[in-house]
Amino acid sequence: MRKITLLSLVAATVLFTACGEETKKAATDAATAATETVKETTSNAVDATKAAASEAAEAAKAKASEVAAAAKAEAEKVAAAAADKATELKEAAATKAADAAAALKERAAATTEAAKEAASNAVDSVKETASAAVSDNAAGKAAFAKCAGCHGADGKTKALGKSAIIAGESAADLESKLAAYKAGTRNVAGMGMLMKGQVAAMSDEDIKAVSEYISSL
Ligand code: HEC
Repeated sequence: MRKITLLSLVAATVLFTACGEETKKAATDAATAATETVKETTSNAVDATKAAASEAAEAAKAKASEVAAAAKAEAEKVAAAAADKATELKEAAATKAADAAAALKERAAATTEAAKEAASNAVDSVKETASAAVSDNAAGKAAFAKCAGCHGADGKTKALGKSAIIAGESAADLESKLAAYKAGTRNVAGMGMLMKGQVAAMSDEDIKAVSEYISSL
């Protein structure tokens, strides 16, 4: 529209110029008016362009901020998901570690119990064996075999009608008497040498064992 108006004005100007001196002033006025109009139109166009540009810039700004916000939201979502996953993994690892530790502990406790029981069983069995050996006093019993002929299987015979009854005497007394016979320093009924012959080949352990056996008769 404005272009057409502009063209008409230019045409009018040309027309007026062609119409001679009288119309020259009118033409000049028309030209001035046309120039004003062009100026104004240009200025309006510039303003409109400026406004449009500023509008476009605003819109672009808004869009950019929208996109940025969306990207931020998306990034936050991803980060939150990653954090969740990390927490999950951490918890799972912790649970697994705790389970493993508990299993190890249990196993260690079971092993300790088993070892304790085995040790206690072993100790019991050693004790039993030892106490059986002591109560049996097999060595003492065996050593007494050669004494029984004179002192009696129950130790209650006066040997050759001369000795005291040895059954039930204390083991300590018997041991010291036998040691004295072995050393040749004891002679109660004139048969000390005979008894020396009986114990001469016996070790201190044998004497101790046979004394304990006689004491138990
Ligand atoms: C051959 C028979 C005979 C045999 C075997 C014999 N004794 Fe005697 N025993 C005697 C006579 C006899 C006396 C007494 C000795 C004395 O005069 O001190 C005696 C004394 C003892 C006494 C001291 C009793 C007391 O309280 O005064 C003891 C203990 C004894 N004999 C232990 C034994 C032992 C142990 C053996 C086997 C290793 C043994 N005798 C084997 C005959 C024997």
